[in-house]
Amino acid sequence: MSHPAIVVTGASRGIGRAVAEACLKTFNANVLAIARTENALNSLKTYAEKELNAQGRVETVVGDVTEERVIDEAVEKCLKHWGRIDGLVINAGILEPMETLANIDLDEWRRNIEVNLLSAVTLLKKTIPHLRSANGRVIAISSGASVKAIHSWSAYCVSKSAINMLIRCLALEEPDIVAVAIRPGVVDTAMQTVVRTKGSNVMAEQDHSRFVGLHASNQLLSPEDPAHVIAGLVVGGAKKEHSGGYYNWNVEEFAELMRKNEHSRYATRVIT
Ligand SMILES: NC(=O)c1ccc[n+]([C@@H]2O[C@H](COP(=O)([O-])OP(=O)(O)OC[C@H]3O[C@@H](n4cnc5c(N)ncnc54)[C@H](OP(=O)(O)O)[C@@H]3O)[C@@H](O)[C@H]2O)c1
Repeated sequence: MSHPAIVVTGASRGIGRAVAEACLKTFNANVLAIARTENALNSLKTYAEKELNAQGRVETVVGDVTEERVIDEAVEKCLKHWGRIDGLVINAGILEPMETLANIDLDEWRRNIEVNLLSAVTLLKKTIPHLRSANGRVIAISSGASVKAIHSWSAYCVSKSAINMLIRCLALEEPDIVAVAIRPGVVDTAMQTVVRTKGSNVMAEQDHSRFVGLHASNQLLSPEDPAHVIAGLVVGGAKKEHSGGYYNWNVEEFAELMRKNEHSRYATRVIT
């Protein structure tokens, strides 16, 4: 198979954009990119056509992943253009609300769960038959916050913890699909800007200053580092023995997928 067909949610910027580029450039995959920011998705298409000379290998769906019709359109487009779905990178996510449980806005809390968790359930339900027949792979972007409670991040922590369990359930029910949750490390994206700028008044001081310190000392990961591993996993690097697991992006198992400038200080297995 020359071009596996991979659906990437949240492909407009940050980790998702870097995953989409790595799929196209390094792993010879076609990409169905979903996000709300149309010009960013257009620029991914332009990148493929102008920089990689890869015509017809990016299709886009502009929309909100919480809307079922957006997921339907993505599935239809992928099948129409490439006749198959070989993998999903479930990446679209939001951090907010950052607030203590006593003070949360319930609608904001629900919204976090809809974006981070329920959209993944919808995408899985609609793609499992296709992933089964392709012996496909699902890589869900989790977080260290899935296994560690962070003050005033309850919605995010709960959504990511549930993502880990969703992946375990998927692996149990679908032996023909490999499903893995990945912790990408602390990555230099818009989400980290939200932590630094909006977290100061509400997060625990030691948590907030840790993120500020990582940024100030230039220790945030470049999105391309975990993205390279994630793209390698979704196109075939994730194996049966990984299915159902939650892994740091740079564990030994995935060492051969790492870019040469990997940040080895994060190389610790978190949990299985
Ligand atoms: N950065 C980190 O340190 C870090 C650490 C651990 C885990 N993660 C996880 O990594 C993933 C990517 O985050 P990031 O750091 O790359 O953040 P980011 O730069 O803010 O990117 C988030 C992506 O999700 C998309 N998105 C958000 N809400 C959406 C919605 N309702 N519908 C469609 N797309 C939506 C955004 O696109 P549009 O705005 O264009 O829709 C964007 O492409 C997230 O799941 C995050 O939880 C990040």
